[in-house]
Amino acid sequence: MTSPVQIAPASGKLGVLLVGLGAVSTTTIAGVLAIRRGLARPIGSLTQMGTIRLGKRTENRTPKINEFVPLASLNDIVFGGWDIFEEDCYAAAKTAGVLEPAQLDQVRPELEAIKPMPAVFDQRYVKRLDGPNVKKGKNKRDLAEQVIADIRAFKAKHGCDRLVMIWCGSTEVYMKETAVHATIDSFEKGLDQSDDAIPSSMVYAYAALREGLPFANAAPNLTADIPAMLQLAAKHKSPIAGNDMKTGQTLIKTIIAPGLKARLLGVKGWYSTNILGNRDGEVLDDPESFKTKEESKKSALDYIFQPHLYPELYEDLCHVVRINYYPPRGDNKEGWDNIDLIGWLGYPMQLKINFLCRDSILAAPIVLDSVMFLDLAKRAGMSGIQEWLSFYFKSPMHAPEVYPEHDLFIQLMKLKNTLRYLQGEDLITHLGREYYD
Ligand SMILES: NC(=O)c1ccc[n+]([C@@H]2O[C@H](COP(=O)([O-])OP(=O)(O)OC[C@H]3O[C@@H](n4cnc5c(N)ncnc54)[C@H](O)[C@@H]3O)[C@@H](O)[C@H]2O)c1
Repeated sequence: MTSPVQIAPASGKLGVLLVGLGAVSTTTIAGVLAIRRGLARPIGSLTQMGTIRLGKRTENRTPKINEFVPLASLNDIVFGGWDIFEEDCYAAAKTAGVLEPAQLDQVRPELEAIKPMPAVFDQRYVKRLDGPNVKKGKNKRDLAEQVIADIRAFKAKHGCDRLVMIWCGSTEVYMKETAVHATIDSFEKGLDQSDDAIPSSMVYAYAALREGLPFANAAPNLTADIPAMLQLAAKHKSPIAGNDMKTGQTLIKTIIAPGLKARLLGVKGWYSTNILGNRDGEVLDDPESFKTKEESKKSALDYIFQPHLYPELYEDLCHVVRINYYPPRGDNKEGWDNIDLIGWLGYPMQLKINFLCRDSILAAPIVLDSVMFLDLAKRAGMSGIQEWLSFYFKSPMHAPEVYPEHDLFIQLMKLKNTLRYLQGEDLITHLGREYYD
């Protein structure tokens, strides 16, 4: 055992600021409101239902994670956020059509009380969207200052001790890092000049990090994953995580692929297609937003299969990802995967997966867990990229000198070992020699 890391207590109110009050956000908010009133269960949330083994298997110590580390209580959370539409959270949840109207009605007054603050929005970055609830400013710096003023006003109004911001807004167009993103200085000059390389999501991230808030990006946009943001996070001691929540098809991919690789089964092709009919699907119907998503979805297999180490098994893998906007399905996405496998002596096999999932039902517990763990990280003095939260993301943020870890099971081990480390418990290596010596 080592000495535990000092963690400030989780007392007082935790403000959760969500950028974009769409399907994922409203499902998260309504869910937390229902769960804390005992009306529903937090299924899918590690922070609410998960346990952690401590010490040797013979010790039988397996506390719940939220009894082992000091996490905020669900009762202490206050939600707020921004959206380009003016409708309150109840109306937005109805539009999203994820949760049953009867379930929303159980928490209706609390949802109605959450009204979106005017957004920083520019249609150049999300082509298929437009709305009236948008800030005006003389340049992007001015807009960032307005977001900072919103953050401070929210904190004061609700008496919050701490805040966390999560980007749950639409997927922005594909962007690459440029010179504007290199330093805090160049980024701030870019804000002054309303540089095109600064999309709306970066304005929010900048505001959050400057205020020392933890920040996570639930979408695949290039938002906090630039040097200027990392420098800001270090300067203001903000933990950050992202990108793009690992929910439906990619979640299954990072469950199946490590298993095939573990058994050294070759994979010649992996064809993935999806139909979905929510607003996310509509935005992703735009090729520029889809490219951002495609890059994020495609990277996982390359890292898991390590074709440079196993060229015979994975070098020529043909990996295709398609998303088709199909309104009748709403948020209930359907994904098909066809995997062409190669076994002993080169004999071919096929595996088909048909996942009828619910996008936001899978995403909500991830938003909640990210909030809880980022708040914990902040109180434990951990700033910058939180690689231990890779578990939740399709394109995990990582240090430049290492490759991202995509294997769900390694990610979970990393997460739980981080919790053990924080509390001064022995890390679990799974060696287990001591039971047989
Ligand atoms: N399982 C999932 O649902 C899942 C998984 C991974 C990533 N994501 C990503 O999470 C994001 C949210 O997904 P969703 O299903 O809730 O989408 P959604 O379209 O229902 O909600 C997005 C909301 O963001 C708002 N918005 C867009 N730009 C904004 C801005 N600049 N400021 C404030 N609000 C803005 C939109 O008006 C909309 O209400 C998307 O980018 C999606 O790709 C979702």
